[in-house]
Amino acid sequence: MSLIVNTEEEKDLFRRAGKLAGEVHHELSKIVAPGITTWELDELAEKIIRDAGGIPTFKGYRGFPCTLCVSINEEVVHGIPSKHKVLKEGDVISLDVGATFRKESSNGKKLDYIGDTAITLPVGKVSDRVLKLIEDTKISLYAGIRAAISGATLDEIAGPIEDIAKANSYGIVREYGGHGIGYSYHEEPFILNYRTGSKTRLKPGMVIAIEPMFNLGGDRVKVKKDKWTVVTEDYKPSAHFEHSLLIMEDGAPEILTRRPGEEI
Ligand code: MF3
Ligand code: CO
Ligand code: CO
Repeated sequence: MSLIVNTEEEKDLFRRAGKLAGEVHHELSKIVAPGITTWELDELAEKIIRDAGGIPTFKGYRGFPCTLCVSINEEVVHGIPSKHKVLKEGDVISLDVGATFRKESSNGKKLDYIGDTAITLPVGKVSDRVLKLIEDTKISLYAGIRAAISGATLDEIAGPIEDIAKANSYGIVREYGGHGIGYSYHEEPFILNYRTGSKTRLKPGMVIAIEPMFNLGGDRVKVKKDKWTVVTEDYKPSAHFEHSLLIMEDGAPEILTRRPGEEI
């Protein structure tokens, strides 16, 4: 069963976590440029989160070593930051960050309130096709968000995302997708970016992440030898956007990870 957030106190913890994650992207996007390493991006992200009293969600999660997932070009998600990975003109990078505020419940259990969000950015000048891939993936996230109202089925979220990919002949990553967010990160429901016939419905108080991943080539992906980095099988570039949302009683969801100045 997925977490249902009822109290204002808990909603505010999710809001704080989401806002902090959004601020990390706002700051990172200012320094993404040819010549910077993905390690430097990771260091800045960790500093921003810790300075705000938060915890980097991903660091140590299932053994992941860093604060950010940074995925370059054919890397789809879960790329590991490294001092040897230097961004160059024409790259496309996805930055995924999680920020946690931890609280101890009355019975001593650790409860994590998490914001999980991803953006894809061009490094310097990229081809028009890649720019359009980035833009279309972002728009598909917004289309999914618009559908994320109480009572909607998972297919009603996936439908508009899938339609945008199909209309532009992008590959849709099939093995990964969005998810519920609970006190220890990922939980049900898993929210794929294509229709599956799912009749599972959203309920008020659920916190979910929607995260479309589109490829310039085919659907297929594989995991590299480092056991984390997911790459496209045909090595074509990929884009990824993600927001964490709070499902409302009626109307549009609250976008917890909205970035400063982000227009939707
Ligand atoms: N941030 C990813 C997601 O959106 C999951 C990252 S798992 C990690 O669901 F271990 F790499 F952090
Ligand atoms: Co994420
Ligand atoms: Co996620």
